[in-house]
Amino acid sequence: MTLPNSEAPVLDPETGGVADAAAILRAGGLVAFPTETVYGLGADACDGHAVARIFAAKERPTFNPLIVHVPDLDAALEIGVFNDDAVRLARAFWPGALTLVVPLQPGAGISDLVTAGLDTVAIRVPEHPFAHTLLVAVGRPVAAPSANPSGRVSPTTAAHVLEGLGGKIDAVLDGGACPVGLESTIVNPARPVRLLRPGGLPLERIEASLGMSVRIPDPDTDGITAPGQLKSHYAPSAEIRLCATDRREGERVLGFGEVECDLNLSKSGDLTEAAAALFAALRTLDASGAGRIAVTPIPETGLGRAINDRLRRAAAPRPV
Ligand code: TXA
Ligand code: MG
Repeated sequence: MTLPNSEAPVLDPETGGVADAAAILRAGGLVAFPTETVYGLGADACDGHAVARIFAAKERPTFNPLIVHVPDLDAALEIGVFNDDAVRLARAFWPGALTLVVPLQPGAGISDLVTAGLDTVAIRVPEHPFAHTLLVAVGRPVAAPSANPSGRVSPTTAAHVLEGLGGKIDAVLDGGACPVGLESTIVNPARPVRLLRPGGLPLERIEASLGMSVRIPDPDTDGITAPGQLKSHYAPSAEIRLCATDRREGERVLGFGEVECDLNLSKSGDLTEAAAALFAALRTLDASGAGRIAVTPIPETGLGRAINDRLRRAAAPRPV
């Protein structure tokens, strides 16, 4: 294994790393930190200079807004306006893998760069214990996109973060592998309630909690509803072929369930296990020099919806 070429210090939560990370964030620095979904690249959401550094480090287009992370619903109510459906979803699923896009509370002090000038803000309360302790210690909202160069696969370990951004950030808080492994589900709770991005919280659970169906916008007729949802995204270097039922010349096969393959996301066909393994598997196959990756079929239910969404983006033609 090659060690990541990185200058950023790795902070250990067992030896005061969370307090160090909080101090760096309060001083306007950039710290990558673990959440249950993926690692985020954090900055003080009220500090425009700090937020600008996130866009520079990731080479992220500035029209693509960031998610604001807070420790609890009370802190969220200070920056967003919550209708009844929003409060219901927050009570049901926070802390957890759900991001709510709500109207921005006037005077909340969030940098315009975070919202890309929109009058809405995306808010999330992560469940990961180190993320929670960190947010409490910072005492301010923390803007954090996934801690990867724009357009690449999201990191689910501190080593992934260092591979992509090591030379461009001030530190990474190492909390081991992220248990969910896929980014949060993004919902706009203004009626009709809309799913802006499938993710680590299955749609079925959201619909059961609300007692109604959630609209899935059609990008062709509704336009792009989450500005970051460009068709080609989450891209490994290898070419990807989906729903593969055979192996073609030069392909490595990424499998799901009882199939013949080079790497299996879950031999028992468990979608939770597959989600947690997905991004690391794409990196492993990429690093093995596979020019082409064929992926066997994955059901379009529960977490399968988000897994297939990420794979379709990984398979989409890349902008040149
Ligand atoms: O699990 C996650 O959500 C991770 C962890 C770190 O929390 N974060 C994450 O952030 O995936 P990012 O930046 O990679 O994705 C955020 C998405 C983008 O597609 C962005 O366009 C969308 O959220 N977004 C942010 N603010 C929005 C808004 N006001 N309206 C619509 N979409 C918004
Ligand atoms: Mg991202």
